[in-house]
Amino acid sequence: MKKIIVANWKMNPDSLREAKELFAFVKKKFKKSKTQIIVCPPAVYLESLNNLNQKNKNIFLGGQDFFKEEGDSWTGKLSLKMLKNSGAKFCLLGHSELVALGESDEEINFKLKKVLKERVKAILCVGEKERDINGDYFSYLEKQLQARLNGVGQAFLKNLVIAYEPSWAIGNKAKGILEPEELVQMKIFIKRFLSDKYGSKKAETIKILYGGSVFAKNAEVLLETGIDGFLLGRASLKEDEFAKILDIVNGGE
Ligand code: PGA
Repeated sequence: MKKIIVANWKMNPDSLREAKELFAFVKKKFKKSKTQIIVCPPAVYLESLNNLNQKNKNIFLGGQDFFKEEGDSWTGKLSLKMLKNSGAKFCLLGHSELVALGESDEEINFKLKKVLKERVKAILCVGEKERDINGDYFSYLEKQLQARLNGVGQAFLKNLVIAYEPSWAIGNKAKGILEPEELVQMKIFIKRFLSDKYGSKKAETIKILYGGSVFAKNAEVLLETGIDGFLLGRASLKEDEFAKILDIVNGGE
């Protein structure tokens, strides 16, 4: 199965010029890569980057978020249709940085169904906020999966990617690093949930990525867990780091 790398640029870079430079680098690096890359830039850069990405079958653009309502008067908001019309073929959903700002499981579920209905591919983030010695994070994750995938039928699964992203391991405020053995456990747990919900054959087809402080130094051991790829934040903004990770993922196929 083709591996996937998602580059979540978050609120970076500060200018279109820099965004184009970074994207040009990604294009050069991924042109003949065996790995699929999904670049999720700030929405203001989507259309320009999309214009630079015609006919590319390995690199896709994705949105980072959109507002759940359509049309009407919503100052400062951005719709799914706008993302789609600007070239987004994928969309991130449920990122913990948005959950921290108040996005609920119900909203994520609503947006997920909307994305899938619009035939945009979804990268659904799930993951616990913290770890405890009793293992309560397993039931936390199960509830999250239940709520976020509520009502999502089998027919949509081909357009769904799951990114396991424990929020305690993400970004500059990360409290720790997930160990490969822990990732194996979480992957099995998520697969089992998906098998129970959709049957094992269907569950097998859903790719599971890992995100949270992935850098060149730990990418290889994390990949050895059998994960289908990575969701990168900081590392996707640094050309050399990003290139090293890609080489690791390409080599690991
Ligand atoms: P990080 O971010 O790689 O900078 O930890 C990952 C993410 O937010 O998805």
